[in-house]
Formats: sequence, structure tokens, C-alpha cells
Amino acid sequence: MNPALELIHARKSVRSYEPRPVEAPVKEALLAATLRAPTAGNMMLYTILDITDPGIKEKLSHTCDEQRFIATAPIVLIFLADYQRWMDYYAYSGALEAEGPRPRESDLLLAFSDAMIAAQTTALAAESLGLGSCYIGDVMEHWETHRDLLDLAPYTFPAAMLTLGYPTAQQKARPAPGRFPLSQIVQENRYVRRTGADFETLFGDRGSGPFLPGATNFGQHEYRRKFSAEFSREMRRSVAVALENWKGLEP
Ligand SMILES: Cc1cc2nc3c(=O)[nH]c(=O)nc-3n(C[C@H](O)[C@H](O)[C@H](O)COP(=O)(O)O)c2cc1C
Repeated sequence: MNPALELIHARKSVRSYEPRPVEAPVKEALLAATLRAPTAGNMMLYTILDITDPGIKEKLSHTCDEQRFIATAPIVLIFLADYQRWMDYYAYSGALEAEGPRPRESDLLLAFSDAMIAAQTTALAAESLGLGSCYIGDVMEHWETHRDLLDLAPYTFPAAMLTLGYPTAQQKARPAPGRFPLSQIVQENRYVRRTGADFETLFGDRGSGPFLPGATNFGQHEYRRKFSAEFSREMRRSVAVALENWKGLEP
């Protein structure tokens, strides 16, 4: 394998870090690499919030589904989908018409894509620098709280958070989780829906439990877990409110 492929295969989520800080030149190299991420139209529709305030990290560890390792992670980065920079520039340059078009859902999806691609570029660069990282999707929850905590502008949305730091020895030794086989992920030319035999290939090895009360197999267990969990309900609520707010910005 070439070094780039080795790096990609070696990466796994790291949720426990050595307490030592990440040196400034290492952090600079990390963020410099992030800027090379592809971006729609080279507009760089994202902003990275570098959360250095321990009080804010502490709050995020609670609002992001009580994931306590956020509070002590040496680096916490929030990747915002950000159309505000361009909207403010349009206003500044006299381009914005009172009744003129505003960013729509499509623009949010583009900005979201930019933010996520920047985040993944950071995650891979981190691996190359000996750092471990973990995505925190729960940053999409509690939108109103995060808006107030982080002074988020109207045309922004927290797409993802990454916690980073040097992995503990235990984390380094932990095996990486498996994946679905390639044959179940890549399809040629047209989409084909999966059927019974596929599900045996995909989930056949997950049948032994223990399952949540009322569930007798892995599918029932996962359905209950994913859709009835408090964090999942909150994420659905929060994202719906944020989307309504984005759409409501139309003149
Ligand atoms: C969009 C996204 C959101 C995630 N959110 C969380 C999270 O909130 N907490 C967490 O511990 N891991 C989170 N993860 C990490 C996944 O659990 C992890 O990538 C997955 O289990 C595969 O493991 P691996 O990254 O070690 O290969 C997230 C990953 C992605 C891509």
C-alpha cells in the first residue's frame, strides 16, 4: 500500500486523548491542510470555530448528548456551513437587492458539503500528524442553544464537530471497527434495492443480542435505538427548526 492509502486504512475514531496539548506548529499544519479541501466553486462556504474556551467545551459536552470527552479534548473544532460571509460581502459591495434572491436549501446543502469535506480533510491530516479525531454529529442538536452560545449568524449551520488530540495507548491498540463489504456499497450504473439475501450478508453476524426490550432481532433493536433515543428526537427537532429559520430568511 502507498503511504496515503495506509493512512486512510489506519484512521479510526479516537475518543480518549493524552492530556498534553497539541503543539502550535502541529495545529497550524493541520489547519493549513484543511484549507486545501475541495470546495464548491472555490467559495469556501464554511467557517471553523476553534473552541479554546474550557467553559464552552464543557457546555458542548453536555449539549452534544453528554459526551464527556469533548470537555477535555485538546482541540475542538466546529465546522459551520457558512453562507453569511458571502451574504455580508454582497451587502457590503452593494449587490444585495431588498427583494433579491437569498440562499435557499440548495445553498445550505452546498455549504454543508463544503463544511463536511473540510472536516474530513482535517481528520485525515490529523492522522498523518499522529493525532486522533472523532466527529460529533450531535452538534446539530440544540440549535437555539448553540446559536446563542457561539453567536451563530443567520446564514450558518453547525455541520459537524471534531475533537482531536494525541490518542491514548489504549485507543491506539483498539481495533478499527469493520465495514459493510464493497459488494454491498458499490453498484453499477443504477440503484438496486437490497433484499433478504443482502440483509443476511449485511447484518447476519449481528443477531445474538442483547436487544432492547420488545426487540427480537437486530433490525428491531436498531430501529428502536435510532428513532426513539432522546438524542435522535432532539436532532430531528433541532434541524427542522434550523431549516425553517434558514428558509424564513427569504425577503
Ligand atoms: C457525521 C458523523 C457523526 C458522528 N458523530 C459521532 C458522535 O457524536 N460521537 C461519537 O463518539 N462518534 C461519532 N461519529 C463517529 C462514528 O461513530 C464512527 O466514524 C463510526 O463508528 C465508524 O468508526 P471509525 O471512525 O472508527 O471507523 C460520527 C461520525 C460521523 C461521520
